[in-house]
Amino acid sequence: MTKERPVVTLEKQDDIALVRIDNPPVNALSHAVRQGMYDCIGNADNDTGIKAVIIICAGRTFCAGADIKEFGKPLQPPGLGEVLNRIDACAKPVIAAIHGTTLGGGLETALACHFRVALVSTKMGLPEVKLGLIPGAGGTQRLPRLVGVEKALEMITSGKPVSVNEALAYGLVDEVVAEDLERGATAFARKVIAENRPVKRVSEFDAKLAPVRDDPGLFDHFRKSMAKRTRGFEAPEACIKAVEAAVNMPFEEGLAYERSLFETLMTGTQSAAQRYYFFAERQTAKIPDIPRDITTLDIRRAAVIGAGTMGGGIAMNFVNAGIPVTLVESAQENLDRGLAVIRNNYDISAARGKLTAADVEARMALISGTLSMDEVTEADIVVEAVFENMDLKKEIFARLDRICTPETIMATNTSYLDVNAIAAVTSRPENVLGLHFFSPANVMRLLEIVRAEKTSKTVLATSLSLAKRINKLPVVVGVCYGFAGNRMFAQRKREADALILEGASPSQVDKVLYAFGFPMGPFALYDLIGLDLGWSRETSTGSTIKERLCEMGRLGQKSGAGYYQYDPGSRVSVPDPEIEQMIKDFAAEKNIPQRQISDREILERCLYPIINEGAKILEEGIAARAGDLDVIWVNGYGWPVYRGGPMFYADTLGLENVLDTINIYHARFGDTWKPAALLEKMVAQGKRFQDI
Ligand code: 3HC
Ligand code: NAI
Repeated sequence: MTKERPVVTLEKQDDIALVRIDNPPVNALSHAVRQGMYDCIGNADNDTGIKAVIIICAGRTFCAGADIKEFGKPLQPPGLGEVLNRIDACAKPVIAAIHGTTLGGGLETALACHFRVALVSTKMGLPEVKLGLIPGAGGTQRLPRLVGVEKALEMITSGKPVSVNEALAYGLVDEVVAEDLERGATAFARKVIAENRPVKRVSEFDAKLAPVRDDPGLFDHFRKSMAKRTRGFEAPEACIKAVEAAVNMPFEEGLAYERSLFETLMTGTQSAAQRYYFFAERQTAKIPDIPRDITTLDIRRAAVIGAGTMGGGIAMNFVNAGIPVTLVESAQENLDRGLAVIRNNYDISAARGKLTAADVEARMALISGTLSMDEVTEADIVVEAVFENMDLKKEIFARLDRICTPETIMATNTSYLDVNAIAAVTSRPENVLGLHFFSPANVMRLLEIVRAEKTSKTVLATSLSLAKRINKLPVVVGVCYGFAGNRMFAQRKREADALILEGASPSQVDKVLYAFGFPMGPFALYDLIGLDLGWSRETSTGSTIKERLCEMGRLGQKSGAGYYQYDPGSRVSVPDPEIEQMIKDFAAEKNIPQRQISDREILERCLYPIINEGAKILEEGIAARAGDLDVIWVNGYGWPVYRGGPMFYADTLGLENVLDTINIYHARFGDTWKPAALLEKMVAQGKRFQDI
């Protein structure tokens, strides 16, 4: 029997002990690591020949946190808190030698050490809040003692990591090493030994807490400042409470309080959803029939056809990653306008201090605008983003087929059109796929990668790795009308539109969905996007509320009125009695009886069809996993991540309950509510979407 390799080892270098953790990929603090650390620290402490201890990690990073895969299972002792208390109590100075992404329990480990030496590129943070948790191994108690309450609150409630420069400024690290961390940390340890420096236990610090005891208002102020950003989330408030405890309770009591808050969150649905989501996001790029080591194509240059709303944003994505872009337009005026919008976006970033003036120029210099399609021949990938018109798209792809190199990837940004039909006009459909960016394309992370019937594995794999390079979150979907996201979205739209004709007001519908956790409801969203998308006065038939609003010149926020009215310069949607009456009149004209509609019915009718359509999409193989649909909804449509996504939410409701409710609406409203066969099958088998 082969013996398992130990993940933590103790190595003596004269009078210094190196506790080395090697638990790939990210040195997560799994049971074996905790036990190993506990034992090694104990051994070093008891060894009279040892004068200082260094904790250091192999591989790409110091510990990136507790092992999330162990969450939700019974804890195998020692718990991390116990291990860290052992480090804290060690009589010999313990030095954390940190690099990579020192996160969560990893940073808590470093905080329990008596000194911290960091490689210059290290990022440090407590991202537990993003998993619906608070730091649960002393982070909320030690960090404020070390860096001060305000900075700690900011780091713990945002979960954002800080750089070494910031960490130095706040006293989070003692020394920075440019290269060779082990050598630097050893030199630091020698200094500590030579100077006979006493151990510095963060748990005993008080200087940065004392002033806050006289200023309790600081917490209320902080609560107010984060209220909007954290609406609906439970963990951020728990983070604040834990830091308050650090200020007001002795260390041990504070630790116990932190633990109880952590455990409450850990057993709640929000954290379960956010942990599920963490893994769902990391699954999307794993495609069952594509080997991980497949050779991908080299993308050195891109081209984008169409410099409108989407094309400009898509071009920016490439440029931001240092990939030069040829931007093709059909008329000089449109090209000038497109380039001006891009420049303006960069200027705004510069005004906010995110770019320098030189960065703006460097990025603009990577874009060459042209009216000649022939100039795309150098590109390794071409993304078409012209009007949503099949004939035009076919014409462009036929042309690309004639002029591009045989390897060039040819992508369409179409929202709804059949990518197989577009691919069919070329002689190399294996090079064609959909890259469905979301608007604004330079901001939204989500990218639906539409795998057409003949798309080659190499082209798909290259697009997935390119997505990562341009900082997008790719989800692979198949060809169907609206792909996954818009197809599911259309279901909610249908029901929301029906609900206002049956008696709910736009503001009632919006309030229900806002309270559920969406950033805004469907009608406020229509007003934001603009009601005239795809509408023209010439073809308008006045057969929907939206068309009638457009005919009235109410195009949404941009015209100061839509479903709602807007005060000049304001984005606040104010209900408009005139429109509510107009909707009632419209319903009467169409013989649709109006009634009181409950909030519950609104929620069910807006959300359950999304779930049902998601099940149909899975059934048809348009998406591979329920998690992929959840990632699409969280990133593309504002589904609150603390509810996991529509498919996870359905699991939490119980699929049997979801199916029963869908059946009730099916009986009332007919076939648009026909339950997905997959949903029925899963209920019959007692399964959850997560089990697929
Ligand atoms: N536990 C278990 N697995 C983890 C993990 C963790 N904490 N962090 C990352 N992984 C896994 C990922 O699932 C992935 O596995 P896969 O290859 O099988 O898909 C692999 O490690 C690599 O991760 P990424 O693909 O995300 O690699 P990146 O290089 O892009 O990012 C990272 C690395 C920045 C460390 C990122 O993975 C990350 O942010 N991890 C989570 C960090 C975190 O949330 N830590 C806090 C945990 S909670 C905690 O510590 C509680 C404590 O207070 C008690
Ligand atoms: P847009 O109307 O803003 O831009 C289209 C641009 O293409 C125009 O500037 C036009 O001059 C240019 N164009 C037309 N024919 C051309 C040709 N032959 N050669 C070069 N340029 C040409 O349209 P938008 O909104 O950018 O949409 C583009 C595509 O992206 C459409 O397929 C749309 O369905 C899709 N899409 C749109 C989203 C949105 O929210 N606007 C979201 C996701 C996809």
